[in-house]
Amino acid sequence: MATRPSAPAWLDVPVDANALAAGVWPDSAARDDDGRLVIAGVDAAELAARFGTPLYVTDEAQVRARAGRVLDAFGSAFAAVGASVAVYYAGKAFLSTEVARWVAEAGLNIDVCTGGELAVALAAGIDPARLGFHGNNKSIAEIERAVSVGVGTIVIDSRIEIDRVADAAARAGRVQAVRLRVNSGVHAHTHDFLATAHEDQKFGVPLDDAADLVATIRDRAELRFLGMHCHIGSQIFDAGGFAESASRLIAVHAELLTDGDVPELNLGGGFGIAYTAADEPTPIEQIAAGMAEAVGAACASHGIPVPRIAIEPGRYIVGPAGITLYEVGTVKPVEVDGGVRTYVSVDGGMSDNARPALYGADYTARIASRVTDAAPTLVRVAGKHCESGDIVVDADYLPGDVRPGDLLAVAATGAYCWSLASNYNHLGRPAVVAVRDGAARIIVRGETEADLLSRDAGIPLPTPAGTDALEGAR
Ligand SMILES: Cc1ncc(COP(=O)(O)O)c(C=O)c1O
Repeated sequence: MATRPSAPAWLDVPVDANALAAGVWPDSAARDDDGRLVIAGVDAAELAARFGTPLYVTDEAQVRARAGRVLDAFGSAFAAVGASVAVYYAGKAFLSTEVARWVAEAGLNIDVCTGGELAVALAAGIDPARLGFHGNNKSIAEIERAVSVGVGTIVIDSRIEIDRVADAAARAGRVQAVRLRVNSGVHAHTHDFLATAHEDQKFGVPLDDAADLVATIRDRAELRFLGMHCHIGSQIFDAGGFAESASRLIAVHAELLTDGDVPELNLGGGFGIAYTAADEPTPIEQIAAGMAEAVGAACASHGIPVPRIAIEPGRYIVGPAGITLYEVGTVKPVEVDGGVRTYVSVDGGMSDNARPALYGADYTARIASRVTDAAPTLVRVAGKHCESGDIVVDADYLPGDVRPGDLLAVAATGAYCWSLASNYNHLGRPAVVAVRDGAARIIVRGETEADLLSRDAGIPLPTPAGTDALEGAR
């Protein structure tokens, strides 16, 4: 093997560059007798032949199972401290009507943060009472719609929104249940958390302002205050940050109880998943137990009952169930200081997975169409976009004979890939296919060139016979 530059410290040379690391790939991922990747009994190469590439593939049973696992984990952990739990699936991770129904059938509520996400949940037939709506800049029209369709809760994100939501509720003749988003000063990311007094960010209000804002909420008869809401970050691997945040929140929660009812506390989402074999997130049951212990202890020290708890996981539920399939187009050795870096370019990129370019996110790749004995070689999987930062997998080992025409699978792309997808360079967003029990079906259609051209107002629209062609083009 030639010297390879810039292998990150966390990346080990695999014994077998065809192996599918447990926890990174969907639970149902395996190699068949011909070495081809199979997910939920469906051959990835057949999916690519049938639906084209790039293609998002999601294991339906795994999404359903993970939704149920979170509910069980938090339900039993908080039952031990005398509290019940409502789990909201954070739709921003990936929302389609099918996914909304899967998680609702597993007993979850759904959290939406725009009118568009609300429309998807409603189109899925989800009871609006099971929806939470938040966002730092909901339009008045979005608030009006949420209130009038009967959304269960709205998270107020700023002082301005108190009147906006109350006025909308007054116009609709309803009393709207609301939460107040606060910043606990705790930021968590993967292995560490940082605790500060103030936060320089657009979401929520400072914890110090909560009492004043809750009094204002309580003054509006059209609002019913449920409790505070806090989200400390994403891709969090243990309970430490949640515990610190929860104990800060409970101190204020206890204060709020002196002036009225506070039935609930929403601790947000952010539970981490494995994108690579080096990632070792704590099992969700242990995180839930750690959070319950911290909440229980903080409530005991303030002499208050443990409130009903709400959480909002997104990535944890859909991330590990998804993979993306690409076709390799070019393989290019590039000389760099200290060796050669092999660029493997695929037929998608930052338009279907923006996370590496946005946050430097790491991923894992494998050849899906075959296994080979070729020695592992360090590669960078790049997309086909006109940006040098268009990276899909910054560093991984693939068999050294990776070649054009290979089908490449990237793991753990079920969250924040489709939802962050774009049409950069006029690539259509790929389809999403659900696989289950050996069968595949499209749950989100891919965009075609015709879809993209149909929105270009410089192209006359096809006009019905007998009408003015120019009229049609306007
Ligand atoms: C308020 C809120 N809740 C929940 C989530 C879901 O986070 P995750 O997908 O990491 O669980 C987010 C993500 O940004 C969020 O902002």
